[in-house]
Amino acid sequence: KKENWIAPSILSADFSQLGKDVKDVIAAGADIVHFDVMDNHYVPNLTIGPLVCESLKKFMVREGVNAPIDVHLMVKPVDRVIGDFASAGADIITFHPEASEHVDRSLQLIKAEGCKAGLVFNPATSLSYLEHVMDKIDMILIMSVNPGFGGQAFIPQALEKLKMARQLIDASGRDIRLEIDGGVKVENIREVAAAGCDTFVSGSGIFGKANAADANRYDTVIKQM
Ligand code: DX5
Ligand code: ZN
Repeated sequence: KKENWIAPSILSADFSQLGKDVKDVIAAGADIVHFDVMDNHYVPNLTIGPLVCESLKKFMVREGVNAPIDVHLMVKPVDRVIGDFASAGADIITFHPEASEHVDRSLQLIKAEGCKAGLVFNPATSLSYLEHVMDKIDMILIMSVNPGFGGQAFIPQALEKLKMARQLIDASGRDIRLEIDGGVKVENIREVAAAGCDTFVSGSGIFGKANAADANRYDTVIKQM
C-alpha cells in the first residue's frame, strides 16, 4: 500500500474563487485535485468541462500550486472529451466502464495522451471489468455513493469492495492507486484506509467546513485526515 493522498473534490468549492480554494487546500496539505465532470446524461447533474480545467491548470502553474489534477469523467460517451481534458492539463483521467462502448480503447486513448488512466466503479458495478485491462490501469476508483452529487451518505458496502480491489492490485504487482469517492469525512476516513484505500476524495467533508469563517479551516480538517 502507498502513501496516502487526500483529494479534495472541487464540486463543493466556491466556483467564484476556485483558484483560491484549490491553492488553500493544497497549502493545507491536500495532495491532488479531484475534478468532477458531469454531463446531465450519464449522471443527473451538470458541472464543469475542459475550459475550467484549463483555467485552473494555468492558475496553478502561475501560482506554483503543485498537485496533479484528477479528472473524474461522469459523461457518456467518454472518448470525445479525453483529448480535450488532456490538453487542458489533466494528469489523471478516470471514467465509468458502463459509459464507454470500448473500455480498452478509451484506456488506450488516455495513455496515448500521456495521462494516467483509471476505471470508476459505481456501487452496483462489478469489478470484473478489470479482468482484462489491469495492465492499462493506474487507478481504481470505488464510488461510495451513486455519482451525481456531493454531500451524500457513504454506502458501507464500498468497504468490502475496496478490500477486493486491494487484493486484485496486490496480486497484479502493479503500481495502481486505490481511490474512494463519496461521503468520506474525518469521522470515517480511518475505516476506509483500513480497507486498503490510499487516495481519499472528500468534497463536502473539506469544503463544507469553509462556511465556518475560520482562516485555517482547511488546515484543521485536512490535518485530521
Ligand atoms: C459524486 C462525485 C464526488 C463528490 C464527493 O458524484 O464524484 O467526487 O463531489 O462529494 P462528497 O465528499 O461531498 O460526498
Ligand atoms: Zn468524483
